[in-house]
Amino acid sequence: MSQIIKAPAGDNNGMVDMFARTISYLRLSLTDRCNLKCMYCVSEDEQEEGCLSKLKHEELLSYEELLRVVRVAVEMGITKLRLTGGEPLVRNKVMRFIEQLADVDNLDDIRITTNGVLLEKYAERLYAAGVNKINISLDTLKPERFARITGVDCFDRVWRGIEKARQVGFSPVKLNMVVMRGINDDELPDFARMSRETEMQIRFIEFMPIGASSRWDKSTYMTTDEIKERLSVAGELIPLSSGRADGPASMFRLGEDARGKLGFISPISHHFCDRCNRLRLTSEGMLRSCLLHDRETDLRSVLRQGGADIDEKIRATLLAAIRDKPKGHQMEERLKEQGSDCHGRMSRIGG
Ligand code: 5AD
Repeated sequence: MSQIIKAPAGDNNGMVDMFARTISYLRLSLTDRCNLKCMYCVSEDEQEEGCLSKLKHEELLSYEELLRVVRVAVEMGITKLRLTGGEPLVRNKVMRFIEQLADVDNLDDIRITTNGVLLEKYAERLYAAGVNKINISLDTLKPERFARITGVDCFDRVWRGIEKARQVGFSPVKLNMVVMRGINDDELPDFARMSRETEMQIRFIEFMPIGASSRWDKSTYMTTDEIKERLSVAGELIPLSSGRADGPASMFRLGEDARGKLGFISPISHHFCDRCNRLRLTSEGMLRSCLLHDRETDLRSVLRQGGADIDEKIRATLLAAIRDKPKGHQMEERLKEQGSDCHGRMSRIGG
């Protein structure tokens, strides 16, 4: 067992990694299950046959275990939490859990990334519970194409969820579009234009070679530079300064009078490893310090060992994972040399 280092409450000195990055952001994947089967998340066979292998209930961290980890992490200096999946809203009794999370002392920044399918039902309660920001994954504005990309014909339902989120007060609602050449790149200008007419923030994400999907290849992948070029027909991109809420996105406005903003997230072409403040907890309790590196630290076994000093052990394991955080993922170079060797599945890591 590694040495136990106790950090005083609220002091995040212990949360600095080997490369002087302060870790203040924890992403929790609540489940590997999802009510969609997006083509970039599952393999072609899985999308067609619907034969996704799923974790068993006892393999998932329980809500009690998750709350315990979050309490310790917040004491150590985590200030921002994001709930992901799979699809976080499909987990049984998720709203009660979120309400309990919102009661954790000194945790005021809880966000969620969802595919929007259940948002019409949950948006109001999420907002009332204190979830302060919402990101919705949406890769197309065309219902038929939506069915092809996600394997489920429910664009209208997701759209109603987005509207509901805006109505109940989430502001700005952020839409995440994974840009794939030949699949949805013809919609880039339409997505961008939405940021002119509404206060929504549209975020274009470079397609990453990760997980089970067989769809990633060099021709499907588009760099942010190319995406920006393709947007020139929609209007002028005016650079903005990025704030804390923008995370790794570089921010722009489409013309002077746009009500919303555009964000570009470039994990491959302009990676933000030197500013990365994230730690991830997969749905089965593995700490992952880099999205694009498969190295993980087992927190679930620690939680299940029990004992009076369990919080100490959680703390030590979080620190061990932070110490293990790679300097960068070097995915661009890895792709040139051998292609992607990242086998983590987005459905358990949560993006
Ligand atoms: N590349 C880029 N983004 C992805 N996402 C899922 N898979 C990929 C991928 N291979 C996005 C989801 C979600 C966010 C968390 O990550 O669409 O919006």
